[in-house]
Amino acid sequence: MHFFEYRGNELYAEDVPVRLLAEKYGTPLYIYSSSSLAMHFKAYDEAYGAFPHIICYALKANTNGAVLRLLAKQGCGADIVSGGELFRALKAGISAGKIVYAGVGKTEEEIRFALKSKILMFNVESEDELQEIDRIAGSMKLKAPIALRINPDIDPMTHPYISTGMKEHKFGIPIDRAVEYYRKASRLRNIDVVGVQKHIGSQITKITPFVDAVNRTLVLLDELKRRDFNIKYLDIGGGLGITYLTEKPPTPADIAKKLLPLINGRGVTLIMEPGRSVVGNAGILVTKTLYLKKSGGKDFVIVDAGMNDLMRPSLYDAYHHIVPVLKTRRARIKVDIVGPICESGDFLAKGRSLNKVGRGEFLAVMSAGAYGMSMSSTYNSRPKAAEVLVSGKTHALTGRRGSYEDLVRHEVMPGFLK
Ligand code: LLP
Repeated sequence: MHFFEYRGNELYAEDVPVRLLAEKYGTPLYIYSSSSLAMHFKAYDEAYGAFPHIICYALKANTNGAVLRLLAKQGCGADIVSGGELFRALKAGISAGKIVYAGVGKTEEEIRFALKSKILMFNVESEDELQEIDRIAGSMKLKAPIALRINPDIDPMTHPYISTGMKEHKFGIPIDRAVEYYRKASRLRNIDVVGVQKHIGSQITKITPFVDAVNRTLVLLDELKRRDFNIKYLDIGGGLGITYLTEKPPTPADIAKKLLPLINGRGVTLIMEPGRSVVGNAGILVTKTLYLKKSGGKDFVIVDAGMNDLMRPSLYDAYHHIVPVLKTRRARIKVDIVGPICESGDFLAKGRSLNKVGRGEFLAVMSAGAYGMSMSSTYNSRPKAAEVLVSGKTHALTGRRGSYEDLVRHEVMPGFLK
């Protein structure tokens, strides 16, 4: 179930016609649904019920401040991968005590910021990083809480670009050397070993890789407990997929049903880092058709949103449903839906069957709430799209459309050119 549905021929975002929003705020426009966000977060929260757990929403999927504030109000924590994400999480009111920090390339400045903010824990990805955190924590007269990110060598059966937990990947510490690393970590004076973390990839639509990876991690957890490590947190990462086309991913409850019996009795707090499954189907991207064109025996629909607004089709050949904001009964044709960017790789869909569209009509790119706006750029000097949050009949701008001035605001003209 989601909150972008037709009423008659007209697509609605909750109780607001999408056309109205596109006319009021302009296009390209990201529209998010409050109810959908809350529902997806709740699905996680309720799945784990009374079992001690923290849901650390993975900011990278969508960093809009209003989206973050809404999730913070539901009690959400954050999974961050940069100082910038820490800044956003704190600004949105997510409590530092619920923030976990992953990523293979944390800088000194970022580590200091996180230590000063008193985050829940660092998910450490290498020995070098461990030593760096120890050194910095020492200089600040603090102890850094850490988990080691374990690479369990499990194939998540997803797109190769978004799978992370196999031994050839740059992420984490090989599971067969984990005990050795934990021993090293425990000898560092300014490090407090508190957790174990794993994350194996994204857009995972099968339950088995989750269960296998958790099982492998539990073997390690038990071994660590035997060796008197006080592991308080088991962080199982994110990665649950959503339906873009016909995928039927398990629900958070399906996964919880499998995982809880495995974890029960181990005295740990469970941490999850879902991104896509919280925001993915809570957002759409609305675009306007600019021109229609035939070329090389193909029909092109040229729209005002491009790979700079939604990169997933170009980057991963990702599929997104594209539907008209006003349904018609016109003949169906096969089209490439392309953006205005000067690259052949700039497309939203290829060979897509669609009812004929006219110029100036609106199309909605579905399932665009995750890794849409957060991966967008201003390439070709196209200002950023606007963002709107809908709640029932109410809607509000949550991200102002970029301006030409925004494009150059950070630039500095050297004196010798003035
Ligand atoms: N935790 C860690 C350590 C991660 O690296 C990621 C995603 C997540 C959590 C959240 O994963 P999710 O629940 O969203 O699957 N840009 C790609 C996805 C990249 C995911 C990177 N890491 C896409 O558009 O499909």
